[in-house]
Amino acid sequence: MQGAHEFVWKATLKTIEADLRGRRVLDVGCNRGGFLRMLCDQGEIAEGFGYDPAEGAVEDARRLAGDRPLFFEVADTIPQDWGEFEVAFSHGVVYLIHDLVGHARAMYRALAQAARTTPASASTRIARFWQLGITTTSTT
Ligand SMILES: C[S@@+](CC[C@H](N)C(=O)[O-])C[C@H]1O[C@@H](n2cnc3c(N)ncnc32)[C@H](O)[C@@H]1O
Repeated sequence: MQGAHEFVWKATLKTIEADLRGRRVLDVGCNRGGFLRMLCDQGEIAEGFGYDPAEGAVEDARRLAGDRPLFFEVADTIPQDWGEFEVAFSHGVVYLIHDLVGHARAMYRALAQAARTTPASASTRIARFWQLGITTTSTT
């Protein structure tokens, strides 16, 4: 999935204004973790958290992370003890999620307070989520 999706990940990054450097980032449906590895290597994020229900993919994500500050879990919703994210991505996933309202709420709760309340962040980007199936909500 890495090779086939890399151009989409790069295009996604062009649609957001947030500076990802030093940020704590969530990736929903992370698959083998390629997007978060790219953010570490090119975006210099502080740490990344990805979850996905596909056990084999998460095993690969953990192995491929090497010594990057990346953390992966097998799950189909945001793990209970995860939160305080400054940037959250959910792309290529919403068509697989039946409860989209629940998903949007879980994403909102997982964001740090500043990321929820910064003008023109949450509402604008959650609107984009509904339009494009891409969520990017962040502090800027
Ligand atoms: C098309 S892949 C996209 C992977 C990655 N986000 C990307 O853009 O390359 C969809 C991923 O969503 C995962 N998935 C399926 N149901 C999910 C759920 N309820 N929550 C999170 N991820 C889910 C699948 O296991 C798969 O890895």
